[in-house]
Amino acid sequence: MPWRDWIRTVEVEPSIYGADFARLGEQLEDLLRAECRVFHFDVGDGHFVDPITMGPIVLQSISPLIHGYGGVIDVHLMVDNPTKHFRAVAEAGGDSVTFHVEAVADVAATIRAAREQELQVGVAFNPETAPDHAAAVAGAADIVLCMGIHPGYSGQPFLEETFDRVEELRGLLPDETPIQVDGGVGPGNIRELRNRGATLFVAASAIFGREDLPRSYRRLVQDLT
Ligand code: DX5
Ligand code: ZN
Repeated sequence: MPWRDWIRTVEVEPSIYGADFARLGEQLEDLLRAECRVFHFDVGDGHFVDPITMGPIVLQSISPLIHGYGGVIDVHLMVDNPTKHFRAVAEAGGDSVTFHVEAVADVAATIRAAREQELQVGVAFNPETAPDHAAAVAGAADIVLCMGIHPGYSGQPFLEETFDRVEELRGLLPDETPIQVDGGVGPGNIRELRNRGATLFVAASAIFGREDLPRSYRRLVQDLT
């Protein structure tokens, strides 16, 4: 699968933030062998969100493995001033970059800056932000990310209002713009999120929090079919 096509498919994306970092390569390889090809990589700066998570140094260590299987890495920047990190993300092997509407003054200019680094671009918005605001500014983005939790930590409960937010967003965005959901996604809600119009599903605890990673991944994929 050429990496440019991943946003056009229905995908479950393991969120690496939930991994056991002492066994990171091994866990990624288990998922790659289970045919998983799209991985989500969370960068938190301790300002836009409370925790400091991981950054380009970790990305650089894992991108050859993922690219070696033909996979892609979707980088979610939960940071202030996202633009200043685009080049480092691209150089470390990120394939797409998603920034938050709440973190920038000019969404269109930020999208252009990501494209200058030959990255695909996502625009994310928090639970406090109205879907119509996100849809109005997302414009030329490749994907729009609707948070299912307050960004920052894995393992938080899913916010039920996300179903309606996804449905509202679907009605506002052009058909060709996929909706991604991140936070609290699992077997109990993935199908309903799909029914409401999302096609890209990020999951940390529902995959890495289980004993058998490939099985948890496959189960979420099956829930969608
Ligand atoms: C945190 C991150 C999410 C997180 C999801 O806000 O953006 O990607 O890893 O974790 P779960 O699936 O456990 O809610
Ligand atoms: Zn994320």
